[in-house]
Amino acid sequence: MMPPFPYDFIDEVIIPEEEIKKRVTELGHQIAQDYHSSHNLILIGLLRGSFVFLTDLSRSIGIPLTVDFMATMSYEGAMSTGAVKLILDHKINIEGWDVILVDDIIDTGYTVDVVSRLLATRNPHSLKICALLDKVERHRVDIQIDYCGFVIPDRFVVGYGLDIDEQGRHLPYIATVNLAKYNRPNYRLHH
Ligand code: IMP
Ligand code: MG
Repeated sequence: MMPPFPYDFIDEVIIPEEEIKKRVTELGHQIAQDYHSSHNLILIGLLRGSFVFLTDLSRSIGIPLTVDFMATMSYEGAMSTGAVKLILDHKINIEGWDVILVDDIIDTGYTVDVVSRLLATRNPHSLKICALLDKVERHRVDIQIDYCGFVIPDRFVVGYGLDIDEQGRHLPYIATVNLAKYNRPNYRLHH
């Protein structure tokens, strides 16, 4: 018999595919409404975790927009290393643009805090933050998430772009990781 999930470290699905679809569409419509009079809307996705979310979100926003990317690093496995490093900068000059910074998940908040401060120095017309998931109880900085998909409890999750050591990004749902199983020394993928 096929195992229920392609990875044996997965505990349970906490947000099924259909629920994500519905919420992402809602967020897209909300953004289209809020920015209907904007002529310079740009979504900047943080690679790699936001790639699935940004793909679906951008297609549910029915007004003109531009897509760009940045990449940061702050994590190894499930452990925050604290520091946020900029690996790739966006391409488009955002001066005068309405910027929405898009991330997969807010944990401590350090990533979007550091990146949004940097973007603010580049004189956008406006700057907002959008995240699919928010672990509100883990915030370590005071940040405002303008568009949030779901608030989730303090569990490590994968799927819909989110990974654990680069695994699990392709899963169409959000699932919790059993860290005890993940850390098992003879850990193997199902084939
Ligand atoms: P923060 O800087 O602590 O807010 O962490 C944000 C980044 O950490 C996100 O962009 C994710 O890449 C990663 N991250 C935090 N929690 C999780 C999780 O539960 N699963 C996968 N990645 C996570
Ligand atoms: Mg990650």
